Amino acid sequence: MQDRKTAMFYFSGTGNTEIIAKRFKDAFKRRNQGVELFRIEDILKGKRSVEYGTYGLIGIGHPVLGFGASGIVERFVEQLPESCGTPAFVFKTASSPHYVNYGASNTILRHLRDKGYEAFHNSILAMPCNFFVKYDDRLNKQLYMAALEKVEIFTEEILNRTPRVLRINPVLEKVLRTVYYMEDKHGGKSFAKGLTTASSCTLCLKCVGSCPTSNINKNGERITFGQECIWCMRCVYSCPQKAIQATRLRSCVVEPYTGGHHLLKLMEDTDNDGHFVTERSRGYYKHFLAYLKEDEGG
Ligand SMILES: Cc1cc2nc3c(=O)[nH]c(=O)nc-3n(C[C@H](O)[C@H](O)[C@H](O)COP(=O)(O)O)c2cc1C
Repeated sequence: MQDRKTAMFYFSGTGNTEIIAKRFKDAFKRRNQGVELFRIEDILKGKRSVEYGTYGLIGIGHPVLGFGASGIVERFVEQLPESCGTPAFVFKTASSPHYVNYGASNTILRHLRDKGYEAFHNSILAMPCNFFVKYDDRLNKQLYMAALEKVEIFTEEILNRTPRVLRINPVLEKVLRTVYYMEDKHGGKSFAKGLTTASSCTLCLKCVGSCPTSNINKNGERITFGQECIWCMRCVYSCPQKAIQATRLRSCVVEPYTGGHHLLKLMEDTDNDGHFVTERSRGYYKHFLAYLKEDEGG
């Protein structure tokens, strides 16, 4: 157990990773461990500063975007100061716990180790899918409930410095890194080119203020989308009027999206029993079973 506080840095497009970062914070606090949460975008935009030397442990949280961690998280880790062995952990949320996502934090882990951090814990938490596939809300609830149990287990491991490793075949990792590169470099740009606002837009400017890369602007009476989109989906899912519409890659948008910030409401829905994946599940959903069963509970 440590004396000095933990700094947890996270990026979250649509709220899944944020909710998990907050649950980690709660779990640490229940064990009398001080934690401070930082949104990565706030640090990169200079809205918050960090006294890195005051923390005895650091955590990095990110969603899996195209089998990787998103450029915004990689840029943040690149600018971290050197360290003499500060322990570090990384957690990621993904729509699938499949091993294809196991290498998603590897660039982050490499940067951390190059800078002298002792990155010893690497975990994955399956959460609602905000891309392409609309999960049944029973599955969304089931995944979130399983994630809550796993956060407790991972917190114990992290505080006891018990390593957790996610192994991926290096050849497969290279192939997936190419997919990630395409998604990171071109996917967001292409998606943003097709973004438009419907007449229901009230110019509330929530999207302008909340875009992590300041890619959304107001030009006269119009909302415009630039070339710095990282395809995190925040603007699309958080628009109060549902006025931001994708005309390109439209099928990527999940409607209605009930993950992220809607999850707490979903948890209160007593008609939803959170029972979706079972021993009898077949096809795509079958692979969730081992994840739900490992680390016990589920
Ligand atoms: C552009 C994009 C790419 C994604 N790629 C993957 C992926 O490769 N593997 C996966 O399991 N989930 C993928 N997802 C789903 C997210 O990782 C998942 O829903 C995550 O929990 C979202 O976290 P957030 O709400 O904190 O942004 C992708 C989502 C987006 C928007």
